[in-house]
Amino acid sequence: MKTIIEPFRIKVVEPIRLTTPEERRGLLAKAGWNLFALHADDVIIDLLTDSGTSAMSAEQWAAVMRGDESYAGSPSFYRFEAAVRELMPFRHVIPAHQGRAAEAILFSIVGGPGKVIPSNTHFDTTRGNIEATGATAVDLVIGEAHDFESPHPFKGNMDLARLERLLSEQGEHVPIVMLTVTNNAGGGQPVSLASIRSTAEIARRHGKPLIIDGCRFAENAWFVKCREPGQSGRSVKDIVRDMFAVADGMTMSAKKDAFANIGGWLALNDEKLAAAARNRLILTEGFPTYGGLAGRDLDAIAVGLGEIVDEQYLRYRVRTNEYIGEKLTALGVPIVRPVGGHAVFVDARRFLPQIPPLQYPGQSLAVALYESGGIRSCEIGTVMFGLKPDGSEVPAEMDLVRLAMPRRVYTQSHADYLVEVFEEVAGRRERLKGLRIVSQPRQLRHFTARFEPLA
Ligand code: F0G
Repeated sequence: MKTIIEPFRIKVVEPIRLTTPEERRGLLAKAGWNLFALHADDVIIDLLTDSGTSAMSAEQWAAVMRGDESYAGSPSFYRFEAAVRELMPFRHVIPAHQGRAAEAILFSIVGGPGKVIPSNTHFDTTRGNIEATGATAVDLVIGEAHDFESPHPFKGNMDLARLERLLSEQGEHVPIVMLTVTNNAGGGQPVSLASIRSTAEIARRHGKPLIIDGCRFAENAWFVKCREPGQSGRSVKDIVRDMFAVADGMTMSAKKDAFANIGGWLALNDEKLAAAARNRLILTEGFPTYGGLAGRDLDAIAVGLGEIVDEQYLRYRVRTNEYIGEKLTALGVPIVRPVGGHAVFVDARRFLPQIPPLQYPGQSLAVALYESGGIRSCEIGTVMFGLKPDGSEVPAEMDLVRLAMPRRVYTQSHADYLVEVFEEVAGRRERLKGLRIVSQPRQLRHFTARFEPLA
């Protein structure tokens, strides 16, 4: 088979400033060994997130010029609405400035003390927005999701038996059922069409709306096409429509699978819920035909939605991560398998067994990748989840490092460089040490904590 090449040419470039390891050691010290505190132009390859970091196409930039900035009834809104409904046929499409804004609006209506909201795995902002209303967020992903070696093709699937039990036992407290596609917190793992349909069927039987967090819907549909029996001959667009046809609404961050740098939406079928959401939107985001966005942003999303379901793009997109995953595996770097749609997750606890979780093996690996190669990744482990509300600290369930791939931004030689940096870090892995935290806030400490390497 020939190389699966980047299915695009480069028309505009952004120079990367190349730093030296010595320079980076100084920058790390200044940043308190927290990669969030780095200046982005001191980063060579930025894999902190795939969110809002996509390269827009020539057509999207052309659409930006076409954007209409009318306060109400902008044609940009109608182009945006039509593009969403082409893929996700919901009756009401309500723009918001990003995913979490859509979540905040939804949960301000359906959340509240005593409520219980299940999902396969809630993303942090979703969980945060649920908990901010006093409700409880419950994760019901299948057991295979916790086994990094399990080759299960749909590790994002809902555990249907647990969902059924929750709805039977506590149904009166459950306002909606959620499902995240792909399951970001679980490693970007997909949910099968069969599982989406069964989740919808169970929710409907209990009289609960199913709301899909659709941030990476196209990557999910591509996995369905490649892995689910009977789906290989179907178009991604048809699979996407099927995924959403059984749902009652969705939240979306257009910063992921819409190739936009900002934006999102809440879509709903229910008239009353949509009316309540629009009232709330006017208070917090703006008039319902712009929702906190400029008209030009809505146009960029509309074009991006047409481009993201391109199967040549999706084949290349998923292949990039597989390629990196294969090379890392060959180097003996333990990763979460199969690799997900938007990122490669490295098991830092296994890679650096000499560093106990409370000395942050994920942070140590992330710091080493920056020091060796200027690569910025993100710890998803004890730094992120280890601090409890009462101030105590416990090891997180796992210590991972996420290498999230911006869309259409880096090329194969960047991927090869990343692998070479890993090779260098693997060569000195026994000598890597943990860190200690010297200052931290009481919540969401990973963004602002300062560290010190242990001698
Ligand atoms: N849902 C999922 C599954 C996400 O991954 C994110 C964002 C959101 C909701 C919130 O969307 O950022 O537009 O407000 N994930 C980013 C990440 C931040 O790096 O994974 P947002």
